[in-house]
Amino acid sequence: MKENKHIYCPNPYILAEIMPYGEVYPCSCGWIRGYSFGNIFEQTFDEIWNGDRAKEFREKLYNNDFSLCPGCQNLEILQEIKDNEPKLVSEPPERILLGLDEFCDVKCIFCRGENYKINTNLIPKDKEDKLIEILTPWLEHAKYVKTNAVGEVFASKISRDLIKEIAIKFPNIKFEIITNGIQCTKENIENLNLTDKISMMTVSLHAFSEKIYNKIVKGGDYKKVIDNIMYLSSLKKSGKIERFELHFTVTSINYKEIPQIIKFCRQIDAKVRFLGLDCSRDLEELYNKINIQDKKHPDYNKLVKLVHSKEFIESKDVVIQGYDYFVNLQKISFIDTIKNNFKNII
Ligand SMILES: C[S@@+](CC[C@H](N)C(=O)[O-])C[C@H]1O[C@@H](n2cnc3c(N)ncnc32)[C@H](O)[C@@H]1O
Ligand code: SF4
Ligand code: SF4
Repeated sequence: MKENKHIYCPNPYILAEIMPYGEVYPCSCGWIRGYSFGNIFEQTFDEIWNGDRAKEFREKLYNNDFSLCPGCQNLEILQEIKDNEPKLVSEPPERILLGLDEFCDVKCIFCRGENYKINTNLIPKDKEDKLIEILTPWLEHAKYVKTNAVGEVFASKISRDLIKEIAIKFPNIKFEIITNGIQCTKENIENLNLTDKISMMTVSLHAFSEKIYNKIVKGGDYKKVIDNIMYLSSLKKSGKIERFELHFTVTSINYKEIPQIIKFCRQIDAKVRFLGLDCSRDLEELYNKINIQDKKHPDYNKLVKLVHSKEFIESKDVVIQGYDYFVNLQKISFIDTIKNNFKNII
């Protein structure tokens, strides 16, 4: 059989994102425009993970067809490999992302507007008590659970109960926690039995100063977050957590604090992940005002200067989600980016 050179993305083999209403995605839902493999409340694990939709997704990627991934910001994950047959069926995923409850204790301006109403129907009422049972086939082979991508893990009873149950029933699972940091105290980490079980801790701060933080995180508590970050930093420095990141979604409100947040992260032994702004949840008006990555934005050139500075590009403390999109500020499509980067294949 002819050996086939192709671009390989590991995600549809190793990652399952279990999101609102029980939909399962092989990657970030927005990047793949909501292409779901199936639903945990309606189908079995095998029907979803190795069903027709999963096979179709893997086959397309094997054939270097990335039309299902138009919003991808993870070019770094792709590799060129050689093999001779597509692997359409997969072993169970090793990484499970859980986003089943959107309860939160604050309102960040780019996530939830003033009048945002929390949707409490993300889990069917008759399935609430059986959640751990339904999730078991997904969890029994998993090494990592990341939570909560759609709400605030420490504020959500559903998320807290799930973590406790998972920690007891699947003692080998490590957690990747993403939080706004307000309730991420030593006491709450211990109450969830998370001590020695955290592989990755991400705190979304989006600012260096209290003034800018307060403009973004409505109802937040800067001082508490900084105290908790210092506690997490001590865990990272003593080797108790493997990876530690701060999230910084870049907007016209906070971009001037990029150099300070890089220096701060160096001090606390964390990386800072810069993210582009998404236009989600009907926030179009605000998005147009603060989306500094848009060439038409009045401060666009100032951001270009900043992200082309030596300090930004060469910093070892920086993680950039979607390098071309971010550093080159190129609004070219992902498909075109792939074509440019893998010219010898496509
Ligand atoms: C939805 S939050 C859920 C986890 C947790 N509550 C937190 O804030 O980290 C996950 C990440 O998405 C980011 N985010 C929310 N809305 C966004 C938007 N419109 N554009 C880019 N990032 C956004 C948040 O700042 C956070 O880093
Ligand atoms: S190519 Fe990009 S969007 Fe598609 S599955 Fe891989 S990482 Fe996700
Ligand atoms: S803390 Fe997280 S979930 Fe809550 S509003 Fe902010 S970004 Fe959204």
